[in-house]
This record gives sequence, structure tokens and C-alpha cells, in this order.
Amino acid sequence: MYKILGKKKVNRVVEQMTIHAPLVTKRCQPGQFIILRVNELGERIPLTIADFDRKQETITIVYQIVGYTTALLSNLKAGDSLVDLVGPLGQPKPFNNFKRVLGIGGGVGTAPLYPQLKQLFKHGVEIDTVIGARSYELLVLEDELKNISNRLFVVTDDGSKGSKGYVTDKLKELLECGEEYDEVIAIGPLAMMEAVVAITKSLDIPTSVSLNPLMIDGTGMCGGCRVTIAGEVKFACIDGPDFDGFLVDFRECIARQNYYRAEEHECKLALKGSIEHEKNKN
Ligand code: NAD
Ligand code: FES
Repeated sequence: MYKILGKKKVNRVVEQMTIHAPLVTKRCQPGQFIILRVNELGERIPLTIADFDRKQETITIVYQIVGYTTALLSNLKAGDSLVDLVGPLGQPKPFNNFKRVLGIGGGVGTAPLYPQLKQLFKHGVEIDTVIGARSYELLVLEDELKNISNRLFVVTDDGSKGSKGYVTDKLKELLECGEEYDEVIAIGPLAMMEAVVAITKSLDIPTSVSLNPLMIDGTGMCGGCRVTIAGEVKFACIDGPDFDGFLVDFRECIARQNYYRAEEHECKLALKGSIEHEKNKN
């Protein structure tokens, strides 16, 4: 059992949970993830390790309440336990000898960006960060990213905070002003990462993206997380989740991501119904 030591709201749809996971904190590196189950009958869901503390033996996960399992997770509180949790899984993000990096986080994808930038910042890399959300109340880890960035730019679709537009508008603006970066790290919705790559590829700025397809075992056995990279089949769970953005077949990733939308929506409605039923009984 993995004890939940802390839980807090990041915004109205995103939560952060700190979990005691000593075996994970012994070895985990930025870019890696865990797979957890909330209860014995639960599905396995992958979540990036958004932060870790080796001394306290804790990992932090940040999740958006979008489906059945994240709704169950959200029902737990500090002191409760998760039935199981495996990790660290996936490849750590390779860190090259870069001097200046631009991080781009879209929505809840900003959470997996944080540990990667934190590590680079610790090693003296100059970091500019752009974070975007539909509206100000959906921004994620703004203060944390401010602390590890030389400059932080906030962008919202509706203009309620920072500049109005998409993260790609700020990216274009920075590049048009002559800013130069050794690498761009973009994590967020697939459409956002695809749009970032369309810009950086034309200027030949190396761009890393993080893919989070559906995962089951997380060990390369089931093939559920397959993605096409440079025309070859790769498994995001063992070959990724970080990949060279220039080589990713985003159209295929987007099509595969939509396969189970209807089932996920049905499960969420069923869970909502059962929670309301329990409330009405009490
Ligand atoms: P969202 O749809 O609200 O988008 C967040 C921001 O991304 C927008 O405000 C905008 O600035 C940018 N964006 C979105 N679409 C864009 C486009 N077509 N072109 C340019 N910029 C665009 O994000 P959300 O609802 O918080 O969803 C987060 C997404 O991040 C989910 O799809 C989830 O699967 C993904 N995610 C990815 C990872 C990962 O490791 N890759 C981890 C967690 C979440
Ligand atoms: Fe099964 Fe990656 S989750 S192969």
C-alpha cells in the first residue's frame, strides 16, 4: 500500500498528490512516470512524476479529473492509501549540454514539464518558460515554474491572464524577436505539440515532446502505447515518453487518443451517478 501524505487543489480540475513511495524515489529521474491503481479492481493509469524528494521518500503526481479513475483518485484524501503503484517507468529525459532552453507547457501538460526544467535550472541552464491555459483559473504550477525560470511568460486563450492567445503565439513572438534556444521542450495537448513542432522544425530548433498514449502494462508487453517515430513503431512506455518532436507521427497519435472517448465518458457518468446515490443514502 502507498500512503497519500498530502493532497491539494491546483485549480478547479487539477489536483496534486504527494505519495510515500520509497522504492520509486531511490531511482526516479525527470521524465519518468508511474502507473497506479486506486483499488484492487481499478484500471492502471500512467502519471508523470511531477516532483520527488529522495530524503522524504515522496513523489508528487499532478492529474486532471477527466475520467473514471482520476475521479476515484480525487475522492481520496491524505491518510488514505493506493493499492499499488509501479515505477519509475520509461526513459529519463536525456539532458544534453544545452545553455539555453525554452520550456512550453499547455494546460495540465505543464506538470510533466516542471521536473525537466527544474533539473536543467539546477545545472545552470538558462530557462525561458511559456505556460498556457484556456483561462487564468486553469493555469498549472505557475509559481513553481517562476522559481526555476529566468523568464516566465503566461498566455491564456481568453486573455484573462498574461497575453491573449496560444502558447505558439508567444513562441513565434520570441523567435521573431531574435531569441535563440538550443532546445525547445514542449508538453501539452497533442495538437499543441504538433503546432510547436511545425514552427521549430522550419527553423531547425531541436524539440522534445512527451507522449502520453493509453497505457496498460507500462513494460512494453501489450503494445497499447504504440506510437510511430520516424516511421518505426515504438512504445511510449519503454522507449519514451519523451521523443524527438520532428520524428513523431502526431496525426496517428491524435486518432488513437480518440478511440475510447465514448467509453470513458460513459464510465465518468456512471461514477458520478454512484457518488450521488451514496450521498443521497446518507
Ligand atoms: P488545453 O486543451 O486547455 O490546452 C492548453 C493550452 O495548450 C492552450 O491554452 C493553448 O495555449 C495550447 N494549445 C492547445 N491546443 C493548441 C493548438 N492547436 N495549437 C497551439 N496551441 C494549443 O489543455 P488541457 O485541457 O489542460 O489538456 C491537457 C492535455 O495535455 C491533454 O490532452 C493531455 O493528454 C495532455 N497531457 C500530456 C502529457 C504528456 O506527458 N504529454 C501529460 C499530461 C497531459
Ligand atoms: Fe503496454 Fe506500453 S503500455 S506496451
